[in-house]
Amino acid sequence: MAAVTEQTVLSVRHYTDRLFAFRVTRPQSFRFRSGEFVMLGLEVDGKPLLRAYSVASPAWDEELEFFSIKVPGGPLTSRLQHIQVGDRILLGTKSVGTLVLDALVPGERLYLLSTGTGIAPFAAVVRDPETYERFSKVILTHTCREAAELDYGHELVAAARADVLVGEMASKQLIHYPTTTREPSERMGRITTLIESGELFNELGVAPFDPARDRVMICGSMEMLADLKALCEKAGLEEGSNARPAHYVVEKAFVG
Ligand code: A2P
Repeated sequence: MAAVTEQTVLSVRHYTDRLFAFRVTRPQSFRFRSGEFVMLGLEVDGKPLLRAYSVASPAWDEELEFFSIKVPGGPLTSRLQHIQVGDRILLGTKSVGTLVLDALVPGERLYLLSTGTGIAPFAAVVRDPETYERFSKVILTHTCREAAELDYGHELVAAARADVLVGEMASKQLIHYPTTTREPSERMGRITTLIESGELFNELGVAPFDPARDRVMICGSMEMLADLKALCEKAGLEEGSNARPAHYVVEKAFVG
């Protein structure tokens, strides 16, 4: 079993009946890179019940933030959604992941493509100064079924732009591109469709994906990853990893 520590819940915020975010204490010994995930959970019937969660805080944060779905009947999330300030949760001691700057070769623009809770690792990436030092433009796309599910992203981007550490850079370099698929909003459609039709690039006023210039991080459901991987490969981008950095990286968002 993975080594775990007990941490204390510091805040809980429910966004919709399907989504909530919470913050917990960060052990001094817990080191991670922005974009990585960690095992997190609760003790159930005397045993640890853990799932992989992206850390939504940047590496410099003194607390740890997480963004979670509530899966009806889900073994962990049906319990985790009831956590309150002061409760204890279990946190793994080791973080891992590929949605890290180190897995990409240098480029000009960084696309962060997310659906649902797949925005969590990017909540870390957009609040990390290194992101803006390495890329001149950072484009965060977030697609959800309904408009209220985009609230976490709106707050995140507002917070990044107001942040003492990254605010100035995020105000100039970070572009937020939220879309919905099942409820009317200012911008609608799956990100795959918006890429294929060229609408995303038209709106940004840039050329389509180009391996010479563009880098991509992808986080969402298995189907979303497969479809976006295919679009990246079609554009000539190569998949990177920690061992072999390249043009794009993918990771499955926690689903239940
Ligand atoms: P859609 O409403 O058309 O299914 P979910 O809540 O099911 O995880 O979906 C989150 C968002 O991801 C929804 O807006 C959904 O669109 C979108 N989505 C689902 N599958 C894909 C896919 N294969 N490629 C791109 N977007 C997807």
